[in-house]
Amino acid sequence: MAEHVKVVHGDEVSQGWLSKVGLGRVKGFVTTTTSFIIFFFLVVIAALIWMDVVSPFSFTSPSSKIHHEKIHHEKIQFPLNCSSFINYMTAFEPKESSAETCPDYFRWIHQDLKPWKASGITKDMIERGIPVADFRLVIVNGNVYVERYRPSFQTRDLFTLWGILQLLKLYPGEVPDLELVFYCGDNTVIMKRDYQGRSAATPPPVFHYCGEKAALDIIFPDWSFWGWAEVNIKPWEDTLKAIKKGAERIKWENREPYGHWKGAPTSADRGDLLNCNVSDKLDWRVRVYKQDWGKEIGEGFKHSNLGDQCTHRYKIYAEGRTWSVSEKYIMACDSMTLMIQPGYYDFFSRSLVPMQHFWPIFRENKCRHLKFAVEWGNSHTHQAQAIGKAGSQFMEEMLSMRNVYDYMFHLLNEYSKLLKFKPTIPPNAQRVCSETTEHGLAKEFMLQSMVKSPSDKHPCALPPPFKPRAIRASLVAKQNNIRQVEMWEAEYWKKLHDKKQ
Ligand SMILES: *[C@@H]1O[C@H](CO)[C@@H](O)[C@H](O)[C@H]1NC(C)=O
Ligand SMILES: *[C@@H]1O[C@H](CO)[C@@H](O)[C@H](O)[C@H]1NC(C)=O
Repeated sequence: MAEHVKVVHGDEVSQGWLSKVGLGRVKGFVTTTTSFIIFFFLVVIAALIWMDVVSPFSFTSPSSKIHHEKIHHEKIQFPLNCSSFINYMTAFEPKESSAETCPDYFRWIHQDLKPWKASGITKDMIERGIPVADFRLVIVNGNVYVERYRPSFQTRDLFTLWGILQLLKLYPGEVPDLELVFYCGDNTVIMKRDYQGRSAATPPPVFHYCGEKAALDIIFPDWSFWGWAEVNIKPWEDTLKAIKKGAERIKWENREPYGHWKGAPTSADRGDLLNCNVSDKLDWRVRVYKQDWGKEIGEGFKHSNLGDQCTHRYKIYAEGRTWSVSEKYIMACDSMTLMIQPGYYDFFSRSLVPMQHFWPIFRENKCRHLKFAVEWGNSHTHQAQAIGKAGSQFMEEMLSMRNVYDYMFHLLNEYSKLLKFKPTIPPNAQRVCSETTEHGLAKEFMLQSMVKSPSDKHPCALPPPFKPRAIRASLVAKQNNIRQVEMWEAEYWKKLHDKKQ
C-alpha cells in the first residue's frame, strides 16, 4: 500500500488510473466510442488481474501493479455527481414502527465498537487512522462528503459510497451526523498488539470489510452487495435470485456427489486445495476448477455465472487473501458448504455455526477431511441436505438487503453516539450524491441496486450486546460441534485402515 497518489478534490486530477476509476472528477470530455473501448479494455484488464470471484487482489499484489501500469490512461467520470440537490433529511414518515428485532449477528456491532465504549471517539483518534485509510466520510444534515486519501482497488470505494447513499435514501433523516475513515483493502489494518499495555494509545477507529481475532477493524458490509462491475457480479439481490433459480434446476440428490470449487489459487490454502483434485491414482471426492479468464472475457463471462454453479452436492469455501465475498454465493446454493477453517470474518460470518450452517474442514491435510465430509454426506443425505438448506436460508433471510442496510444503520448510529465532537464539513471534501454518470456495468449495477423510495418502516430493533459469558459459551458450543466431526472422522479412517489389514 505504499503507492501514494495525490489527494483529489475539487478540480484537481490525480495521477494513476485507480483514482480515475474512483471518485476523482476527471477533466475533459470522453467520446462515447472511446469510453466504450476504454470500458471494454478496463473490463479485460480487471478480469485478468482478478484471479477469482472468490478472492480479489489487493492493490499491493505484484500482478495488479503490472496491469495498473497498463490502464494508466483509463477514464471513468466522477460517477456520483450532484446536479440536483436532494437532501435526505426530508420526508420520512414510516407508517409502521418496526418492532422486529434484528438478527443475532447485529450483536457484534457492540463488540466491534467496544474499544471506544469507555473513552468515546475524538477527532484526534479518527485522524490517527488516516495513514491507513482510503477516504474520510462525513455526514452532516443528511448530506455526504468525502475526502479521498488514495484510490482504492477497482471500484470498491465507489460501490461502498453508493451503498451508504442508498442507506440515506432508505431512512431519510434517520442517519445521524458522523465522521469516519474507511479502508477498502483486503488486509486488516488496526492490530490489537499495537494498542496493548497501560500507556498504549486508544486505537483509531477504522471502518473496513473484515476482521480477525488479532485486529480491531470495524466491520462494514463490503461493496459486492451493490455489485462488482469488474468481474460482472451483479448486486446481491439479483445474484441471489440467479443462484436460487440455478439451485432449483438440479435437485440435491441429482447433483454430483463431490465437493466443488472453482476459482484461482490466490492463497496458499487454495493452492493446497488444488492438490486435492481427482487424479488417475487418487480420488478425494473433490472436483476443483481453475477459472480461465482469457476465455471468459472472450465469451462474455458465460462460464463464471454464479447461477450455474449449483451443480454439486458439496461446495467448498476457501479464503483468499483474507475474507472472501464468495462466501454468500457459495452458501446460497442449497449444497452443503465445506468450509476450510477461515482466519477472517465479515459482518455476518461470526454467527455461522459449524454443523448447523456448514461442515468444518481443517486446513491441515484438507484432502482427507474433504473426502470424509463428502462420504459422510453421501451416507447421511438428509442431514447433509439440512445443513445445506440452513446455510442457504441464512444467506437469503438473515442477509436480505434490508438486513444489510439495517446493519449499516445500527453500526453508524451506535458509532455516532460515541463521537465526542460535532462533525463538520472538512474543507477538502467533495459532496457526493446518488446520481450516476458512470458507464457500462458499473452504471447498470448502480441503477439495479438503487433504493427508489424511503422505507415504510423503521430499522429493526438492535439486540443488546452479548454478555462475555454468552460469547464464550457459543465458542465452546462451536468447538464441541467441531470435535464431534473430528471423532467421526477418526473412526472413519480407523475403519478404512483396519479393513486394509
Ligand atoms: C452531472 O451529471 C449531469 C448529467 O446527468 C451533467 O449534465 C452535469 O454536468 C454533471 N455535473 C457535474 C458537476 O459533473
Ligand atoms: C480437476 O480434475 C478435473 C477432472 O479430471 C479436471 O477437469 C480439472 O481441470 C482439474 N482441475 C484442475 C485445477 O486441474
